[in-house]
Amino acid sequence: MDIPALSRYRQIARQIKEAIEKGELTPGSRLPSSRTWAQELGVSRATVESAYGELVAQGWLVRRGQAGTFVSQTLAVRHEASPPTALAGEDPGLLPFQLGLPALDRFPRALWARVMGRRLRTQSRYDLALGDVCGERILRQAIVDYLRFSRSIDCQPEQIFITSGYAASVTLILQTLASPGDGIWMEDPGFPLIRPVIEGQGIALNPVPVDAQGMDIAAGIARYPQARFALLTPAHQSPLGVALSVSRRRALLDWAAQRQAWIIEDDYDSEFRYQGKPLPPLKSLDAPQRVIYAGTFSKSLFPAVRTAWLVVPAPLVNAFRQRASLSACTVPLLWQQTLADFITEGHFWRHLKKMRQCYALRHRWLVEALTAHGLCCVEQQGGIQLRVDVEADDRESARRAREAGLSVQALSDWQIEPRGHRGLLISFTNLTSPEMVEQAVEKLVRAIA
Ligand SMILES: Cc1ncc(COP(=O)(O)O)c(C=O)c1O
Repeated sequence: MDIPALSRYRQIARQIKEAIEKGELTPGSRLPSSRTWAQELGVSRATVESAYGELVAQGWLVRRGQAGTFVSQTLAVRHEASPPTALAGEDPGLLPFQLGLPALDRFPRALWARVMGRRLRTQSRYDLALGDVCGERILRQAIVDYLRFSRSIDCQPEQIFITSGYAASVTLILQTLASPGDGIWMEDPGFPLIRPVIEGQGIALNPVPVDAQGMDIAAGIARYPQARFALLTPAHQSPLGVALSVSRRRALLDWAAQRQAWIIEDDYDSEFRYQGKPLPPLKSLDAPQRVIYAGTFSKSLFPAVRTAWLVVPAPLVNAFRQRASLSACTVPLLWQQTLADFITEGHFWRHLKKMRQCYALRHRWLVEALTAHGLCCVEQQGGIQLRVDVEADDRESARRAREAGLSVQALSDWQIEPRGHRGLLISFTNLTSPEMVEQAVEKLVRAIA
């Protein structure tokens, strides 16, 4: 078995080799100095030097004295000459148009590693024990500050509950507040993956139609007056992309106050808006204290971070704490501390700012390419996905697109009851160049023609 130091330098060498093979590190490009990289990765300089040394011996890298270490030019010829197996620049594990993913190429991984490495090195022995069942205080405080500035939500750290994702958040809400047989208003069409989670808790799905003003609250009241919950995406309806209108926001809050029902506000991607000002979240207008706000870092950072949170009304804090204490918080302490540092040191804000610009650009590339190929997409003011109109059966079109290697979903599959919504749902986040967009759109057009 390798001793740890040995395996670490081999890991680093392998990562560099893979980056060269994928073209992420281009021929002739200079690698960071071993001192800088060692600091970023939190390893010794000798470990990085060993990795460089091995790759120099194998011909992947060349040393040029004081100038530094560079990717070999000779290997470049081999890389460029190899036939493309996927769309240019595309990671083979990631299909074009894949929904629900932020731009993986733009996440500052070295910075994240540095923040996490520093935490790891400075942890005390007490950090080896179980943390707070509701999540680490520093992370909850960082979220409180973030929500105050970005979403005008005024809350206290006690009201924040850290979970391992949206499904875990919804499960915690239902286990704390619901009784079997309760009904929950669901947007129709809406995010399908959460439905089995809710049904698994013995709760009845009450589908409520969505139109240009978001969930039709009057229809919900007429059809399911006894419901105890309403689950919705008011900022940017998933998948239609519309915002819940002001009059419907008022109607919904009034209904919840009268019926003593709970509103679950899923604010999954409101960080990304390209035009106009967003409406304030329901939670910021929650005078009757009926709104439970669900946020996530899956879109704003990356899904593998597996960290989401709830903001619960102050009178519910004890009930949620009791329920949460039945199991430990599933997000590792080191990750929570890293997230807190990442936010409080300003990296989160800077990342969001960069991503807004990146998405505005990639969004424009995709809309332009679709339009040039005669496809019509429904304008959305934000979010990280697009809806393309199709005349034909959207399930059949999506099936054909998937056969052609594209990750496309049919809007029909997001409906609970047949409501005649049709279209293809696609994302632009990981389309990294206009050429890549053009190739993907050509493929899509050929597949669904
Ligand atoms: C509508 C909606 N809500 C919430 C989420 C967040 O889920 P999670 O935090 O589990 O990644 C997603 C992710 O795709 C989503 O599409």
